[in-house]
Amino acid sequence: MKSTQHEHFRDLLTHDHERLDAMLTSVLELTHVQAESALDAQWAAYETNLLAHLDAEEMFLLPGLGKHDSLHADRIRADHAKIRELLAEVGIGIELHLVREIQMLELARFLREHAKMEQEPLYSWADRAIAQSSFALVRNRLRDTWRKLRPASTPPRAQL
Ligand SMILES: [Fe+2]
Ligand SMILES: [Fe+2]
Repeated sequence: MKSTQHEHFRDLLTHDHERLDAMLTSVLELTHVQAESALDAQWAAYETNLLAHLDAEEMFLLPGLGKHDSLHADRIRADHAKIRELLAEVGIGIELHLVREIQMLELARFLREHAKMEQEPLYSWADRAIAQSSFALVRNRLRDTWRKLRPASTPPRAQL
């Protein structure tokens, strides 16, 4: 049981990073063609899915990592706070129709670095230490969020 669980946490959350990255790329593409209603819908779906990812890590992974390696858990929490800050900045820009590409690129860059950093120790630790029941909760939450919120008009690049 445990060896299967180990692979699944890393696979699940890495795949979610990849889907989020692709979705942000499609948001950026929509800013270039000035498709405002599609941009609003894509951004709302992206934001919800990214927040679901952060929330799942904070609820199910970080409390345990904090007991094992509080330095890394604090660093990940600080990154999540920065990600929420960047999300708010971009979201306000979209709301006001003043999207700044540089803010989106900064968000994309920060998220890629964060995703790399989470491989060790968070995901490797989670695969060793977190119960199958918690894994199923994380998987189901992420899956349900993607199913509910993916807009019908999602560009193909986001459908990974
Ligand atoms: Fe994270
Ligand atoms: Fe993550």
